[in-house]
Amino acid sequence: MLAKLLGSLIACAAMLIGGCAAPRYTSLKEAYAGRFLVGTAYDPANFSPAEVENIQAHYNVVTPENCMKPASIHPREDAYNFGQPDTLVSWAEANQMQIVGHTLVWHNQTGNWFFQNADGTEVDAETLRQRLRSHIHTVVGRYKGRIKGWDVVNEAIDDNNTSETAKTEHLRNSNWLRILGPEYLTLAFKWAHEADPQAELYYNDYNIERGFKHESSMRLLKRLLAEGAPITAVGIQGHWDLNPNYAAIEKAIRDYRSLGLKVMITELDVTTRGTNTGALPGFGLGAAAQAAATRTAEEAATQAAADAAEREAAWKKQAVAYERLFKIFDRHAGTVTRVTFWGINDRRSWRATQQPLIFDGQMRPKPAFQAVLDAAHKRPWFPLPF
Ligand code: G3I
Repeated sequence: MLAKLLGSLIACAAMLIGGCAAPRYTSLKEAYAGRFLVGTAYDPANFSPAEVENIQAHYNVVTPENCMKPASIHPREDAYNFGQPDTLVSWAEANQMQIVGHTLVWHNQTGNWFFQNADGTEVDAETLRQRLRSHIHTVVGRYKGRIKGWDVVNEAIDDNNTSETAKTEHLRNSNWLRILGPEYLTLAFKWAHEADPQAELYYNDYNIERGFKHESSMRLLKRLLAEGAPITAVGIQGHWDLNPNYAAIEKAIRDYRSLGLKVMITELDVTTRGTNTGALPGFGLGAAAQAAATRTAEEAATQAAADAAEREAAWKKQAVAYERLFKIFDRHAGTVTRVTFWGINDRRSWRATQQPLIFDGQMRPKPAFQAVLDAAHKRPWFPLPF
């Protein structure tokens, strides 16, 4: 009896101290159940059965990577492409997954027809207002009650930030801003809300968690809220490298919360090489591939071993970064309501050569996958004072 009691006490102590008895998660969505949603980018085209199974196993929310962007879904004024978006929405519903609509207003991947008259001259503000309103009502209205939330405005703040631009919203000089003025953002949020009053509405951007761009984002959000824009959350895209600015990320989450907003990490990827601006070659590609043609078998084997060692070291560092990031998100669960990876594996990533995701090109889990689960395994049992 005494031995049994002692055994229980030891087991309890072990659980409290080291999380020894913590559940060993194998699925991302289970590891963060009750904390925040875990998502991935997904366009329903040419996915292998293994890839689809992976999505079903690990995620409870999907964002279409491209098929709902204005140029895809509304290529001409009188033409909508609802094929892939409809397939995505039905598939997600059949698989009990939520859906994020991406994106309604962007400076990129948007047909020029929005901004031009039939004769090629620029439209006036009233025409553009009507076109945008009609676009938002048609797209959001079609999926009313089925899409959890929309990235209403994407990347409206300019880059090249300085201490001077930090004193302003520093809006990107897009056609939207030039023709409609700064009120285009508020209007877009209001129209999206009219079209689906239950949908959550997000402002989504990159690098807004740090530096001068963060200050501009705070100014912009305060103004939009003051103007009555029905914003639910800020999307921090999260295109990061091996050295994310962890302190800035945590501060940004608190700053946005202080405005009464939720926070979502909407396009997470952590590049293993170079900064997260793209363009760098992957391991064993480019110059290395050219040199390979003239190597002896022995030289080739040496090079392959060096590449593998370099990759292994980079993947370990990537795992450390992912674990630290998920510990931050987990600490702020409740404010952070969703974390979405920007793609399901390195081969499909828009930064494929920089291997930024947690599954490799063959869908095998990388060290970062285990690290993301471990961040949940190591979750403290006591509540944190946030
Ligand atoms: O669909 C066409 C295809 O018909 C054509 O043959 C082919 C030739 O290049 O292009 C295909 O379109 C490509 C599209 O991805 C679908 O694969 C575009 O060229 C390509 O530019 C586009 O890239 C996307 C990029 O946004 C566009 O800016 C990436 O996949 C997508 O991951 C990326 O996602 C953005 C987010 O929406 C917003 N935040 C930044 C993030 C990264 O840029």
